[in-house]
Amino acid sequence: MDTLTNPFSPGAGTPPPELAGRQQILDDARVLLARVKAGRSEKSLVLTGLRGVGKTVLLNTVASMAEADGYRTVMIEVTEKSSLGTLLTPHLSELLCELDRMAGVSAKVRRALSVLRSFVGGLKITVGEVGVGVDVEPLRGTADSGDLSIDLTKLFQAVGEAALDKGAGAAIFIDELQYLSQDEFGALIMAIHRMQQLRLPVVFVGAGLPTLPGLAGASKTYAERLFNFPQLGALSAEDSAKAIQEPAAAAGVAVGKNALREIYRKTCGYPYFLQEWGYQAWNFASGKTITLDAVSRASARVVERLDQSFFRVRFDRLTTGEKNFLRAMADADTAPLRTGVVAEKLGVPLGRLGPVRASLIKKSMIYSPAYGELAYTVPLFGEFMRRAIPE
Ligand SMILES: Nc1ncnc2c1ncn2[C@@H]1O[C@H](COP(=O)(O)OP(=O)(O)OP(=O)(O)O)[C@@H](O)[C@H]1O
Ligand SMILES: [Mg+2]
Repeated sequence: MDTLTNPFSPGAGTPPPELAGRQQILDDARVLLARVKAGRSEKSLVLTGLRGVGKTVLLNTVASMAEADGYRTVMIEVTEKSSLGTLLTPHLSELLCELDRMAGVSAKVRRALSVLRSFVGGLKITVGEVGVGVDVEPLRGTADSGDLSIDLTKLFQAVGEAALDKGAGAAIFIDELQYLSQDEFGALIMAIHRMQQLRLPVVFVGAGLPTLPGLAGASKTYAERLFNFPQLGALSAEDSAKAIQEPAAAAGVAVGKNALREIYRKTCGYPYFLQEWGYQAWNFASGKTITLDAVSRASARVVERLDQSFFRVRFDRLTTGEKNFLRAMADADTAPLRTGVVAEKLGVPLGRLGPVRASLIKKSMIYSPAYGELAYTVPLFGEFMRRAIPE
């Protein structure tokens, strides 16, 4: 069928034509936004899940909900190299300037701008680097101690008080939270904790890999009482069918039952893979129906594409030792998988694997779902490893 009218949207953070199977989380987010707006406290939301399950898409959806609800929003993405303070500063500056432009002069907003300015001083970077208004005088002695947990808490509090004073709400969204350093994570948790205690109208929603609850707990033991960590997983067979069928139906195209079953079998219900299979099956189909035959012919193309991009970009960042480790994981047939099994497969003592295991965790390729256990952060990565290194 015509590629131009293809409704499917494989990509990173690209909104799917049908956001299937996430209603519960959207409902929870709606409650969070409504409660904080009404001055009630509520646990913040941190979405966790493997690569490509739809965390960013959901984060953006909740951000749109917040905007529709009248919140001023800030959206940032942490990277392996970024620093939290530098990332946040220009966005908070913009948010405060927006509050400043609202009707009525507010001393709290002016104060928050000054606190932000001194926060930048504490970061030891120049004002120009992060685009904070040079016309504002720093509030010396506040948020400039150089200790991020103290300074960020002061800054968030000032921002929350400014929003409260203007009768507005602020919502802060942070993606890829697992890349924060332990200090940054600890500081963020403390700052959010303080805002919740003071019932300031600031909502926090984060997203990242399934390592997050553990990382948060390691930084601050009370984190579990501060956050809800809904886990986004693969979609059920029924929701997977919806994700494919609804967009096709909207374009007047039917999808055969066997075709749906085959797509589910191939994708295991992982959202990114559903979009890839839907996209290619659409291109291979002729007439007004996506048949099993179209899906089967599309599969070879999809696997080739995934191997060349989605899986390959991750594979190419690995050392030989890391590749061998991940390949051995693919051969282990025990679930849950333990490091000891990998050591056995590689024929090396368990102790020798510590560094490579640590570097794979640091690269966010694997994580530990429970003590002593291992899993890939990328769905279906084991099958890819077997194709990449056949042996
Ligand atoms: N609920 C859903 N139903 C159908 N498709 C979805 C759903 N959620 C996400 N997708 C699709 O899955 C793909 C991946 O989404 P997204 O980039 O949000 O995942 P992610 O979890 O943020 O991945 P990563 O960890 O790599 O950042 C996109 O193509 C998106 O359109
Ligand atoms: Mg993402």
